[in-house]
Amino acid sequence: MNIAVFGTGYVGLVTAIGLADTGKNIVCIDKDAEKVRNISNGISPIYEPGLEALLLKNQERIRVTLDAENAVKEADVVIIAVGTPFDGNHIDLSYIRQAARAIGAATKGTEAFKTVVVKSTVVPETTMKVVRPIVLKASGKTEEEVGFCMNPEFLREGNAVEDFLNPDRIVLGVSSPRVEAIMREVYDGYPDADIIITNPTTAEMIKYTANALLALTISYSNEIARICERLPGVDSEEVFWGVIHDKRFSPITEGQRIMPKLSTYLRAGIGFGGSCFPKDVKALRAFSKDLKVDGKLLDGLLYVNETQLEHVFNMGLNHFTNGKIRRIAILGTAFKPHTDDIRESPGIKLAQMALERGYQVAVQDFVALENTKKHFGSRVQYFEDPLEAMQGANVTYVATIWPQYRKISDEDFERHLEEQAILVDTRSHFKDRAQKPWRFRIGVGEAAGQLAADYA
Ligand SMILES: NC(=O)c1ccc[n+]([C@@H]2O[C@H](COP(=O)([O-])OP(=O)(O)OC[C@H]3O[C@@H](n4cnc5c(N)ncnc54)[C@H](O)[C@@H]3O)[C@@H](O)[C@H]2O)c1
Repeated sequence: MNIAVFGTGYVGLVTAIGLADTGKNIVCIDKDAEKVRNISNGISPIYEPGLEALLLKNQERIRVTLDAENAVKEADVVIIAVGTPFDGNHIDLSYIRQAARAIGAATKGTEAFKTVVVKSTVVPETTMKVVRPIVLKASGKTEEEVGFCMNPEFLREGNAVEDFLNPDRIVLGVSSPRVEAIMREVYDGYPDADIIITNPTTAEMIKYTANALLALTISYSNEIARICERLPGVDSEEVFWGVIHDKRFSPITEGQRIMPKLSTYLRAGIGFGGSCFPKDVKALRAFSKDLKVDGKLLDGLLYVNETQLEHVFNMGLNHFTNGKIRRIAILGTAFKPHTDDIRESPGIKLAQMALERGYQVAVQDFVALENTKKHFGSRVQYFEDPLEAMQGANVTYVATIWPQYRKISDEDFERHLEEQAILVDTRSHFKDRAQKPWRFRIGVGEAAGQLAADYA
């Protein structure tokens, strides 16, 4: 089976390499010549743990090209994994349309049955009402000759390889039983994964519903955390810990309580960022309004997310009571650990806010500095070492939960902090450490930190 993948970003590249690892021949198509050159030379254009090693291992089965026409002609299955940004009002489907037109044009005059798979996150009905007519018109084919599938991707950046190689579910929204059989073959290298067969529109809705639910949990936690901050003696961490012990969240099996991974979303934080949650929730909200569904809950969760960042930033500034702030340090500019993706990253937004207030800004990250430099140029100072970045800063925000930060002892932090400078734990990363006058954790009522320290 020959598979072509349109787009070699986070999703396209991981999909291509993951499927190649199960023995499939893959041709990747991108319009970015530099990406094509790099991948051809075995260099991953993105940082994802394990990705480059897997690329090198499967290089024989992966070809990368700018030539969409020939790649599509030879493929049995064409996967679309191009970007679907939010244009400020609606989802921007222009890359999807371009890919669909290119696939249709290249399919014209070919003999074999072709399956077109939408893997990009798209609003409901896009596969059947946007992609399908474009492909069928440009190819001059019928649905007997071209099939359609919507196959949402659930990988998490920073864990993308692991998630793709060990999928918890594979959702296949298929246009016919023939397409279902072909897609089962595409994924036959993952026999343990639950396969959910449905129609394309339901598959599209599954992806949005999943992302919006996770985003809602984050905003809900942040709103609860803000209430806790007004209550002396209340620590939101203890509140969430009590909540998650409900058997409906954490069932007890053979005397053992199973803690859901979702518990990590029930935590005071700085709000969600990244390339998916913000744009997907906004796209779903816009889509729901088009359908005359009010969407107040989606409005609310976005509102909490947008205001949480400023709330946390201001809390840091307000807690620095030793005169004038000159310098701010941001530890972690990637939107989460183990990725170099800074799209919609809270760390980047904090640095931007600090610049707008006229402060000097120092930023640090373990893998995202290159992307951060492209964003800020010479407007901020860059550090690889978090302790060096903190030097001279009045307020330091820990914005990404890189595990390396937890390896720094409190004594080391103390040694590198200016007198009376503070460190703001925006992600409850140090929740289990004793309270210190220089460390300030969000989601905690005034005296609660002391209580937690007393119990520790
Ligand atoms: N990043 C994630 O974690 C993630 C997870 C699940 C789903 N998704 C969804 O997957 C899709 C892709 O996301 P991404 O983060 O991989 O995007 P990305 O921006 O990293 O990559 C998109 C790639 O597509 C290429 N491209 C665009 N138009 C093209 C065309 N006509 N022909 C060839 N190449 C083209 C671009 O050059 C780029 O390399 C989006 O819809 C996103 O919402 C992303």
